[in-house]
Amino acid sequence: MKKIKLEKIKIGTLLDGKISTNKGSILYPNKTLFTKQLIEKLKKDKIDEIIFEAREKEKPISDEEKKEEDKIEKILEGFHYGGITRETIRESAISFRNITYNMLNGNDSIDFDSCKNSIFAVYEQIKTNPSAIVNLLDIKTHDDYTYCHSINVGIISLALAQKMGYDDETVKLIGLGGFLHDIGKISIPASLINKTSVLSEEEKRIMKSHPSHSYRIMSKDKNINPRIVNMAYEHHERYDGKGYPRGISGDKLDDYSVIVGLADVYDALTTVRSYKPAFSPEESISIIETYTGSHFAPRIAEKFINDIQNSLNKKNDFNKGSLVLLNTLELAQIVYLKNHADGEEVVVNLLTDSKNKKLNKTISVNLNDDKKRSIKRSVKFNELDGDSLKVNLTSSTNL
Ligand SMILES: [Fe+2]
Repeated sequence: MKKIKLEKIKIGTLLDGKISTNKGSILYPNKTLFTKQLIEKLKKDKIDEIIFEAREKEKPISDEEKKEEDKIEKILEGFHYGGITRETIRESAISFRNITYNMLNGNDSIDFDSCKNSIFAVYEQIKTNPSAIVNLLDIKTHDDYTYCHSINVGIISLALAQKMGYDDETVKLIGLGGFLHDIGKISIPASLINKTSVLSEEEKRIMKSHPSHSYRIMSKDKNINPRIVNMAYEHHERYDGKGYPRGISGDKLDDYSVIVGLADVYDALTTVRSYKPAFSPEESISIIETYTGSHFAPRIAEKFINDIQNSLNKKNDFNKGSLVLLNTLELAQIVYLKNHADGEEVVVNLLTDSKNKKLNKTISVNLNDDKKRSIKRSVKFNELDGDSLKVNLTSSTNL
């Protein structure tokens, strides 16, 4: 057993063993990665020293723990990060891992601060990176539904709430609701969660109890805003009252729950499952359109459909070879476009100067490095004025 001053612990330190406070309460039962958020949380909780009990060397990592570690790695491998950094997604994954791990080990409380920090970090990036919404379409994973689904639903809920024009605090609240919406699945036997064959009526009944379990688990915790509890409780309700667990309908359903419900269905549709292929974003929104008015409140679903549709239109505009108008009024052509872990890298060749005069030599600009230039909009080839490569600026209402 070793006492360690918090100030001595560096970000990224991994302690393989039990971490407790000097008052004896166990903070983390096993392997813990000290993220920036975790260190800040401990400081906030006025914990300046921890007690570390190393795992016995001969004790191998259990299959369960190995599986947990692999899951995080799988998430990070499978994620296309869009405008969100790998580190932020990692924080979310670790935070979710800690919640589920603690709960599976009999500790029934949720590390709510850690969830908050993760979701807020994602939101900061969505807010400061205008292309993050477009890139939301890329935030998909191939495998492992449970973790990825919670993170995806959190992110999609955040983005939709932002589009609905809610203030910052509400957007974060809805994001947290999305992140925690399925927490009640912890109370459903894993054999049932992972079952790929058709469920019996009794099994369906048990599966459908997960919103009530979410309610039971979270409503006990006074730190958790009741609206978050409600989002988890209502995310399978339907506009026509044919959902579960209570069958409430129409305006009795909280708008926040409808947002999380939409994010949940959209993510489920666009993810590969053992029993179905992944639908494309286009197919998924057309399915959601079909269920608008029965499953989903039209007022919110239409906003969601338009938003994804606009994102698709924008996305299709920017390919290698696309012509774009920069904020400097220079015309350029995309010559390199690649999604990296920490965002999109775009290199353009400038074709004209800001006065529409054709350039005599090729100038390449990496827009990630050049902070003064950014893409204002795409330019269709028919907007060009003959050989001079001039954009017919007056034809555009965007200018
Ligand atoms: Fe659910």
